Amino acid sequence: MIGTWMHDKLKKNIGLKRYNHSIGVMNTSIELAKHYNCSVEKAALAGFLHDCGKLQGEKNLLKVASNFDIILDNVMKNNKELIHGVLGEVLAKKEYNVMDEEVLNAIRFHTTGREDMSLLEKIVYIADVIEPGRSFKGVEEIRELAYRDINKSILYSMDNTIKFIVDRGSLMHLDTIKARNQLIIL
Ligand SMILES: [Fe+2]
Ligand SMILES: [Fe+2]
Repeated sequence: MIGTWMHDKLKKNIGLKRYNHSIGVMNTSIELAKHYNCSVEKAALAGFLHDCGKLQGEKNLLKVASNFDIILDNVMKNNKELIHGVLGEVLAKKEYNVMDEEVLNAIRFHTTGREDMSLLEKIVYIADVIEPGRSFKGVEEIRELAYRDINKSILYSMDNTIKFIVDRGSLMHLDTIKARNQLIIL
């Protein structure tokens, strides 16, 4: 399903390091999909392409986004880390011929999360955090938690992300706050 041309294109667009990370996220997404009874094909594709918007060597993501007629909200304009999700969704559609809305949403929301995330969105979100190439303090605990309680694992890593954003003084996306609030009262 994921053709050689897609591998070649992704490698060229995002660079070898991020390509390898994407393979890790794809494999972890497949494992989680099997574990939680989600579509393995969709998980593989969404995991593989989740970072396709991280264009290597591209300094002006704002311009690229506007070239694709993407309307960015104010938070995204001021926290450029967040642009690659929405840009990735559009590139997946236009350059990788992905038409599946569930896959496209999993790509779009993999950085911010959102309220009412689908199982596929949750899988890609957490696979991005725990893929085999990740080696931060506490990753083993989240890996284990991801298979035991995916909601808790997302809440835990969202809290880490939020602390990081606060420490850095960056803007927080409202979708992340909404996702976190919902996960807390689940
Ligand atoms: Fe990403
Ligand atoms: Fe990623």
